[in-house]
Amino acid sequence: MEIIIQPTTEAAVSVAARIIARLLHDKPDAVLGLATGSTPLPLYQALIAMNLDWSKVTTFNLDEYIGLPRAHPQSYHSFMWENLFQHINIPKENVHIPDGHAPDIPKFCSDYEIKIHEAGGIDLQLLGIGTDGHIGFNEPTSSLTSRTRIKTLTQQTCADNARFFGSEREVPHHVITMGIGTIMEARQILLLAFGCQKARAVAEAIEGPITSMNPASVLQMHQTAKVCLDEAAAAKLQRADYFRWVYDHKPEWQDF
Ligand code: PGA
Repeated sequence: MEIIIQPTTEAAVSVAARIIARLLHDKPDAVLGLATGSTPLPLYQALIAMNLDWSKVTTFNLDEYIGLPRAHPQSYHSFMWENLFQHINIPKENVHIPDGHAPDIPKFCSDYEIKIHEAGGIDLQLLGIGTDGHIGFNEPTSSLTSRTRIKTLTQQTCADNARFFGSEREVPHHVITMGIGTIMEARQILLLAFGCQKARAVAEAIEGPITSMNPASVLQMHQTAKVCLDEAAAAKLQRADYFRWVYDHKPEWQDF
């Protein structure tokens, strides 16, 4: 894993935006795996401001609540259109977001896997991390080889996400999420984490054992996973100085 620690959230976002901009420059028809939540929001704002060409890009979102109408303000459909897609020139047919209202959800999930495969696989998967180490909505104890499927959220995740809803009672308990095995097949992975509430999950994922108790720890097995952190999210890393030293001494050709 490449750990990139930046002094501020803005600086970490700027590194992540440059990584994605470079990919779209090098591969205009790239396939991106996208994430929702508060973490990617400033990244989407930065990407919008860069005026990139998204006309050939295809996207697959990680997850969606089951049972929320698409138009519900907290559905991930609404989130993605409001915060990214309506501001860029991506063709509507290139956007894929799990459908939490599909009549046959298990079939929808296996078809989603087929669509990712038919699109040529994901070039870069963007990830946030839950306070319990989840990636997508793969909660602790998820199979490390899981595929797109239905999951039940933990009470902790429902409590964490209650801030987006009126109350914790309104947070749906069931979701569709890409599996950990699905995520691990992406050619590049870019995980972002900001703020001290993520510091423990981040340290366990990077420096702890690989365990389904912290699903993000599986990224230790990925060949090109990058983790972009602000200082607060990096606060519990024992090897932070080493990670900073590596980043500061990157050869020019490796720079973003
Ligand atoms: P957040 O969620 O970005 O809203 O903190 C991250 C996640 O649950 O993956």
